[in-house]
Amino acid sequence: MIEPDKVLSTFKAKNGVQVILRTPDMHDLDDLLKLINSLVTERAMITANTKQSLEAEADYLARIITDNIKGNSIHIVAEADGHVVGNAEISRGKGQSAHTCILGIGLARNYRSIGIGSALIKELFKHAKKLGLRIVYLEVFASNTHAQNLYKKMGFKMTGSFPKKIHYGSKHVDSIIMTKEL
Ligand SMILES: CC(C)(COP(=O)(O)OP(=O)(O)OC[C@H]1O[C@@H](n2cnc3c(N)ncnc32)[C@H](O)[C@@H]1OP(=O)(O)O)[C@@H](O)C(=O)NCCC(=O)NCCS
Repeated sequence: MIEPDKVLSTFKAKNGVQVILRTPDMHDLDDLLKLINSLVTERAMITANTKQSLEAEADYLARIITDNIKGNSIHIVAEADGHVVGNAEISRGKGQSAHTCILGIGLARNYRSIGIGSALIKELFKHAKKLGLRIVYLEVFASNTHAQNLYKKMGFKMTGSFPKKIHYGSKHVDSIIMTKEL
């Protein structure tokens, strides 16, 4: 169980900017909406490809705050320069997959490659263990080498693929499945 707006850790990123990793609260709505819509606009290699409305993002935010409180899943934001610039989460599987969780992560363009992704995932792992989760998995576009480099660095191994799962632009791209035992 983690309450909203709880600071989990702070660190200086590789470019010197101070970063706070904390749980989200409803005050983050505008920043989170801006973040997801900027990822959609830049055509980042994520599943979402349509912009979110304020209402849909408010529903999502209310749900992840409740998830954190209930201890089902863990959702963390990265704050820098007074704004949320990154969002990462692990969500518990259901039923006989309840020992597993799926990981998702996205950072604003200007805050990449300075160590925030690595720090977010380390923080998620800490909390995942406390929640009794044993296996983390994710799907990543085969063409997303930056994300794959991050996941390999964090100990994920490629354990499968779904050929042509993604329709990205005019091409079909494989989805790579990566897993890590905690
Ligand atoms: C993918 C993403 C989460 C990575 O986070 P990040 O904060 O940029 O990653 P880090 O700075 O912690 O770097 C982790 C590793 O990735 C690799 N990396 C960093 N920058 C890179 C770049 N521009 N290209 C390729 N690999 C890179 C390095 O191996 C690095 O390890 P190192 O710091 O020990 O050298 C982030 O770039 C992002 O949000 N991208 C857009 C959305 C997205 O693709 N989400 C993932 C969907 S599966």
